[in-house]
Amino acid sequence: MKTISVADYRLAARRRLPRVLFDYIDGGSYGERTLAANVEDFARLTLRQRVLRDVSHLNFGVELFGQSLAMPVILAPVGLSGLYARRGEVQAARAAAKAGIPFSLSTMGVATAAQVAREVQPPWYQLYMIKDRGFMSELMARVREAGCPALLFTVDLPVPGSRYRDARHGMTDPRWRARVSQACDGLAHPGWLWDVRVRGGAWTLGNLAGAGEGLTSLNQFWSWIGRQFDASLTWRDIDWVRERWPGPLILKGVLDVEDARAARSCGVDGIVVSNHGGRQLDSAPSSISVLPDIAQAVGSDLTVLMDGGVRSGLDVLKALSLGARACLIGRAWAFALAAGGEAGVTGLLELLRQELRMAMSLTGCTDAAQASRELLT
Ligand SMILES: Cc1cc2nc3c(=O)[nH]c(=O)nc-3n(C[C@H](O)[C@H](O)[C@H](O)COP(=O)(O)O)c2cc1C
Repeated sequence: MKTISVADYRLAARRRLPRVLFDYIDGGSYGERTLAANVEDFARLTLRQRVLRDVSHLNFGVELFGQSLAMPVILAPVGLSGLYARRGEVQAARAAAKAGIPFSLSTMGVATAAQVAREVQPPWYQLYMIKDRGFMSELMARVREAGCPALLFTVDLPVPGSRYRDARHGMTDPRWRARVSQACDGLAHPGWLWDVRVRGGAWTLGNLAGAGEGLTSLNQFWSWIGRQFDASLTWRDIDWVRERWPGPLILKGVLDVEDARAARSCGVDGIVVSNHGGRQLDSAPSSISVLPDIAQAVGSDLTVLMDGGVRSGLDVLKALSLGARACLIGRAWAFALAAGGEAGVTGLLELLRQELRMAMSLTGCTDAAQASRELLT
């Protein structure tokens, strides 16, 4: 099947991956209402078609935190990517580098920041705070040493959201029956099994080596998160992170204007308007629906990014027109990686670029950095 849309990459990933992994990527929390709203609210926005405006030269580039991006798209941190394809983080980082955009490495990545930096280039680093602050200090020092140019501090996961699909597949169940069922799931997907489990060998969460010793199965991984993530975090802890991170600091998971103002008061450099792709608080509003108010409140002081539901270049332009400087994409690249490795992610980014080109041309927008509310009806 030809992959000509994000939906096609999703279908290709569904064929390739064991069901437990596909549903881990595809699913959201509880009734998946926020997950659906993220996509539906984008679909509801209508672009304003304009004509005869000389769109022969378009500028897709934006500047963020002193970095030039070839287009206003960033690969969002996606945990366990090294299980969707062998050395998945490195493959995705390569595709991002070729496309001239940042790749964000999750704390829950299989590859370490140093590995990605060595083999491709330093990634943006996504930080989860675990309770052991000594370990966190060491981790942040390692991330600095790897040369990571920006830190995404995820603040919307004090506790892991409850995801029905993961529970049904026994992802959170340590008993042998769940493990046998996952093994059968793997055997039923020989392409994946050969690439990831046979050629890739044993896996672990590289960034957490030392803190999360022995995290080699999905069940162990999930229960470890529940035990180790620090639910006591407050705004005061931003100072703790700041002391250890001199570079651009971006809070990921802000969904409320008051929180955006608090982020500004804490002196962070940016925020990602995000509900974690509908994986945390179900019934929270979609990211795109709260973006305009947040951008209006803090957009002149902070770099406002957004994610959640971006499935095309048209969505990227809609987000820019409502005040985001750039979008992060999560599931879209995870599906493309599972479907085709580095080539899959490269194909996806080319697709988004073409769609963005078309959307800008037909709305008469010649510069992505200048997109405004005028582009919407
Ligand atoms: C499978 C999966 C794993 C994720 N892992 C992380 C993570 O480790 N850290 C994080 O901050 N966000 C994580 N996210 C959230 C994404 O960074 C992003 O906020 C979300 O995927 C955006 O929504 P979208 O998938 O609709 O593009 C994950 C999302 C998915 C789908």
